[in-house]
Amino acid sequence: MKKITLLFLTSLLFIQCKKQPARPTGVVSDKAMVVSAREEASKIGSDIMAKGGNAFDAMVATEMALNIAYPFAGSIGGGGFMVYRKANGEIGSIDYREKAPLTAHKDMYLDSLGNVIPGKSTVGATAVGVPGGVAGLIEVHKKLGKLPLKDVLAPVIQLAERGFVVTENQAKRLDNVREKIIEVSGDSTLFAQKYVVGDTIKQPALANTIHTIAMEGHDGFYKGRIAKTLSTFIQANGGYVTEEDLAKYQAKWREPVVFNYKNLKVISMSPPSSGGITMNQIFKMIEPYDIASFGHNSTKTIQVFTEASRRAYADRNYFLGDPDFVSIPTEKLVSEAYLSGRMSGFSFDKATKSSEVERGNIEIVESMETTHYSIVDAEGNAVSVTETLNGAYGSKLFCEELGFFLNNEMDDFSSKAGVPNMFGLIGAEANSIEAEKRMLSSMTPTIVEKEGKLWIVVGTPGGSTIITAVAQTILNAYEYNMSMQDAVNAPRFHHQWLPDMVIFEPSGFSSALKASLKDKGYIINEERTPIIGKVDAIRILPDGKLEGGADKRGDDTAVGF
Ligand code: GLY
Repeated sequence: MKKITLLFLTSLLFIQCKKQPARPTGVVSDKAMVVSAREEASKIGSDIMAKGGNAFDAMVATEMALNIAYPFAGSIGGGGFMVYRKANGEIGSIDYREKAPLTAHKDMYLDSLGNVIPGKSTVGATAVGVPGGVAGLIEVHKKLGKLPLKDVLAPVIQLAERGFVVTENQAKRLDNVREKIIEVSGDSTLFAQKYVVGDTIKQPALANTIHTIAMEGHDGFYKGRIAKTLSTFIQANGGYVTEEDLAKYQAKWREPVVFNYKNLKVISMSPPSSGGITMNQIFKMIEPYDIASFGHNSTKTIQVFTEASRRAYADRNYFLGDPDFVSIPTEKLVSEAYLSGRMSGFSFDKATKSSEVERGNIEIVESMETTHYSIVDAEGNAVSVTETLNGAYGSKLFCEELGFFLNNEMDDFSSKAGVPNMFGLIGAEANSIEAEKRMLSSMTPTIVEKEGKLWIVVGTPGGSTIITAVAQTILNAYEYNMSMQDAVNAPRFHHQWLPDMVIFEPSGFSSALKASLKDKGYIINEERTPIIGKVDAIRILPDGKLEGGADKRGDDTAVGF
């Protein structure tokens, strides 16, 4: 009898322990926090909140500061997406994705034989889409901000004038692309110089541009002197963006994608980002499997996740595009019946071949280098933002007079159906180029509620790997009860239908594990073991404090109070 009681008590204790939220291992703050790719940006965002600003003011300050301290992915010359959840539970999202210029057309990157012209959609002025960054920030500030714009941007302008200090990662990255920057922008621009760790880079031209935006808002960038300078500069370099393109650009409020996974409510970005729908499909396909009991990154868990991703990416590449131009069968794509049918051919014994997984049979009746930051303010408002220039330093075209790099986002369109882009993603008609269309994205800024309460704010850069990295981070926290920091740091893997290969990060996956997958027919890309994503996340702890998950893979930092 004693033995049975002891067993019962031990089991009860075990169940209780399992239910205990993971002890935080990242930075913890009492009320408010920003986690971003650079300490300077996180600090400026956090300081704005300490001065009485809300998460939306902090968004404007953080993103503008990233333009300065993290030019690798700044959005002034690019674009992004933001998902928010207010303290009262209201949710929303904004799309400030770049657009194709008015003169753009389907075959603009093809030669006379119909072949893709190498580099035309990836490097230099021809790759540049109409930037949306400033429109997005100003629109968010106008609708949801609290402090005057000039107060929000004052510390950012000071940072540009004072300069930022080059980190080791940054020195390496700049070194890797300097030749390309020189090739595209000449040898006398700010980033043509060689920088070493500890150097300070001051940006007076960018300070000036941000000052104009602080004073004149949206029109200060999209009309008048800046618009004229920018469009003249892009065209002088052979690109397509005109003053009219800039004058017409507007950010768009969109309904976020919302779905449940067990007792979580996941709120993520809708098209033209593929993030929300694709992640919805992945989660719903894995939901019937008890992946917690399979174990973190075990053979079986990797199999289920890979097979779900394979099927979701096949749909992504075929069905998704700019919803203002194409009709997306969202309801069917995320319906239980469709997704369970999709997984019906899966067996733990053997990998499915991507060649056997075409787009789902849905009748349409009608017609990597990015950055993410997460913010929670003292009132409980949450903001999840992913922004990008697409490639590292975008198109490598640097406008010296205005002080920023321009995107190469036109490469996110499918230049030609069936031909892979720089992330190896194979696109289709839904994402073909049209004037004023927004190119399909993988950016997945996400907010997760648990039992009706704000729980996690999360996102990452990483091109096509963004969606799987965000999904794995949420699963790490939820299914494997990891702290936010541990969930972010945990090793990741990725599969995107085509090429039919699983990629693994360089460490964290044993040879035995890879061998067991190979035995089942999985193709493992041994040559390509990149780091996957740089996740920046915040978890709300049961006592209301915040735990930051700042990715150890970069210079990412959590700052709060
Ligand atoms: N350019 C990366 C993305 O939008 O997904």
